[in-house]
Amino acid sequence: MKLATRAGRIVPSPTLSITATAKAMIAQGLDVIDFASGEPDFDTPEPVKAAAEAAIRAGFTKYTASSGIDELRLAIAEKLQAEQGLRYDKSQVLVSCGAKHSLYNLAEALLEAGDEVVIPSPFWVSYQDQVLLNDATPVLLPTHEADGYAVHQQALEERLTPRTKAIIVNSPCNPTGATYDRAILEGIAEVALRHDLVIISDEIYEKILYDGARHISIASLGPDVAARTVVVNGVSKAYAMTGWRIGYAAGPKELITAMANIQSQSTSNPCSISQKAAVAALRGGDAFPRHMVVEFDRRRRLMVERLNKIPGVTCRMPAGAFYAFPNVAGVFGKRAAQGPITAAADLADYLLKEALVAVVPGEPFGSAAHLRLTYATSAEAIVRGVDRMQAALEKLA
Ligand SMILES: Cc1ncc(COP(=O)(O)O)c(C=O)c1O
Repeated sequence: MKLATRAGRIVPSPTLSITATAKAMIAQGLDVIDFASGEPDFDTPEPVKAAAEAAIRAGFTKYTASSGIDELRLAIAEKLQAEQGLRYDKSQVLVSCGAKHSLYNLAEALLEAGDEVVIPSPFWVSYQDQVLLNDATPVLLPTHEADGYAVHQQALEERLTPRTKAIIVNSPCNPTGATYDRAILEGIAEVALRHDLVIISDEIYEKILYDGARHISIASLGPDVAARTVVVNGVSKAYAMTGWRIGYAAGPKELITAMANIQSQSTSNPCSISQKAAVAALRGGDAFPRHMVVEFDRRRRLMVERLNKIPGVTCRMPAGAFYAFPNVAGVFGKRAAQGPITAAADLADYLLKEALVAVVPGEPFGSAAHLRLTYATSAEAIVRGVDRMQAALEKLA
């Protein structure tokens, strides 16, 4: 059978496949510590579950409007206005099956062969593949650990060509945990305005911020910026609702309408029950994410502190999201029984086999010098897991 060329351009999501391997090993009875998955270990809040139960009991189990129910689109518009001062009409809001699906709809509606999309690197694994799936070309913009992975205007401009169509902004960032301050966002916005670029702003970790930081949406920098920005967000991370699959996009009407049309011919509406649950989440205020962040903050410090004690490993304190992104280049050149450790992928493989610790190697995020570990897991697992990593690394010759 001859498959479409585009199917051969991409690989399965590495984070999902490593998590699946770790889960399969756990199911076989192995005591694997999972630092690979990308979801809060908290349960979905009770009022959200109650709203879903009420929806089922009330028979709210049929198709809904393909773009999402009005109640949810209005709740999203109100949230964006209350928190970021952004004004969207309901027709500018599209609810999809997770933020990943919102991003995919956007890539389908916006991109075609010849288009280029600038992606600051390290980057979340799906950006590159979604661009490739839609016949366009990802252009990586390297950012650096030493200055907190900042995006500099000049470096950004050097990446632009007449074919550049869009830039992706992901603050707080998965995997680095970096956040962009106002000056960085203004720099990006200014370039986007001058070069007529669409800004794709993935704000899925906006509520997971530490040390009193406040989220700034790039769209809030002015009406001219909002007019070229698509804000992508969802309830997965902030409300521990990864399995419910509700994400959304808000932006210019023409683009959102095109995305809505694509959705109406592909998935139709996101799950009716999950939509009611998402209304409860968004209307429920920030008490739940704030509580989660207090816990994540403790675990963040614990994990980073312990990782920094391992010889050959250095780890910055992430400012947002729930990942540590240690630099492990100091270990390269050492040897395991299975062979030399020359890159993050070798080390991740070694740690899974030798220490029964699942981590994601940095390569699919754009860095062969880093590992990504989630601290959205118990303090006890963090201590045991990092201790095991240390013991395994000390065995390397
Ligand atoms: C940066 C980033 N964007 C989007 C998503 C997708 O979120 P959702 O579960 O809403 O599809 C993730 C999930 O890991 C993510 O890390």
